[in-house]
Amino acid sequence: MFDPIETLKQYIACRSVSADSAFAAGMADARDFVTGLLESVGMRVQIVDTPKHPIVVGTREGDPSWPHVVIYGHYDVQPPDPLDLWKSEPFVGEIRDGRLYGRGAADNKGPFLVHLTALGRLLEEQPDLPLRVTVVVEGEEEIGSPSFGAFLAANRERLRADLCLLSDTGIPSPEQIVITCGLRGIFTFDLEITGPQSDLHSGLHGGVLHNPIQALTEILASLHDTSGRVAIDGFYDAVQNVEDWERAELRKLGKSADEYQRFLGIRKFHTAPGFDPFEATRFQPTLEINGIGGGYQGEGSKTVIPARAFAKLSCRLVPDQEPEAIWALVSKAIEDRCPPGVRAKLTFGHKGRPYVVVPPGRPNTPADQSPGLAAAFAAADAGVSEVFGRPPLYLREGGSIPIIADLETIAGLDSLMLGLFLPEDNLHAPNESFHLGVMEKGIEVSRRILASVAGARR
Ligand code: BES
Ligand code: ZN
Repeated sequence: MFDPIETLKQYIACRSVSADSAFAAGMADARDFVTGLLESVGMRVQIVDTPKHPIVVGTREGDPSWPHVVIYGHYDVQPPDPLDLWKSEPFVGEIRDGRLYGRGAADNKGPFLVHLTALGRLLEEQPDLPLRVTVVVEGEEEIGSPSFGAFLAANRERLRADLCLLSDTGIPSPEQIVITCGLRGIFTFDLEITGPQSDLHSGLHGGVLHNPIQALTEILASLHDTSGRVAIDGFYDAVQNVEDWERAELRKLGKSADEYQRFLGIRKFHTAPGFDPFEATRFQPTLEINGIGGGYQGEGSKTVIPARAFAKLSCRLVPDQEPEAIWALVSKAIEDRCPPGVRAKLTFGHKGRPYVVVPPGRPNTPADQSPGLAAAFAAADAGVSEVFGRPPLYLREGGSIPIIADLETIAGLDSLMLGLFLPEDNLHAPNESFHLGVMEKGIEVSRRILASVAGARR
């Protein structure tokens, strides 16, 4: 059986940056590495081609009456830049103070290895374990999973399972595990405002036309009211009420708003009325301006009226907001609010639906929840309580993993998301690392989850 820490070092050495074609060889290295790992735990491996980066699929077949678990991970990582801020080489795993540093250590190579190590250990103890397993490791998560929908649609049957098990969400401290029960959806878009056919001298022409930057900022300023709510009719109509148990669970997080405010370095919170800051990031949708540009940006001044201005925007969505429906509202509001002297061009980016999975035994747990999923939740609760010494919290996250809702919609599969990364793991940033104590304990929890699913009757 492989050693998870040494294996994580070797996996980090595969330079698998999906966004940059200069890293194609590293992507291939990572696929080969994952293939070898899956084969080492006795799986049959298939490489599924996509328009960009192939998906690695491992299968442990068995009697069709056996429970079936899908394990998800991604072998691609974010670009390592800015390189000069790293204290060690991004693609050379280095252990310091109980953490393994390297690009992808936490997102998602370490957390994926938690589950694969657990499976390997379990199969070593019980080679005849009555459990079918499909491991899906994609290479496009960090670029929005553009090929995953088609893969799901084409592989619906082989993905019919009791649950999907994964770790790609966070925890507040090494002692407090979170089982993530929801993710926000997302869509992104660009807005370009154009006016005159070219940049103009503001002395010769100033005063006769609507400056595109001014028009853009007027539109953008109209999108929220002074309380911070999105000022678009119908935007909140589909937002579900928050259950009492969810609010109660969040209070157990034990973080103070003051502490959070200091961490952010802001003078005041700006949350929608009725939501504290911790609730707002999980239960409320947003419309965010991610970037803005236009006109002169250089040294000194330039008396110019620019011909164009642009902004990059995105919405985070909560159940039951559908990306297409909200996009229709937002795009219409922007078009309606575009002043007559300029033109607005909207370009849609990518999207993902919001997701919620309710743990067993709650007032809103679906009556038809699969026995395998219920067994996995129960084992996760007991396992986390024993191994980490504290029961898990059941929280929704503000972040998005679009394929999780797609798994549910396209393949009918709910997910058990065992949170494992810490705020100080520096995901997407220099000096990314994974906490080795959390890793080892996580392996034991995952082993118990897999064992209990194998014992669950369908
Ligand atoms: N693992 C994250 C999602 C995440 C972040 C979950 C924080 C919980 C807490 C994932 O890799 C990610 O970064 N997702 C993107 C969405 C994607 C479509 C660009 C995000 O949330 O911005
Ligand atoms: Zn990520």
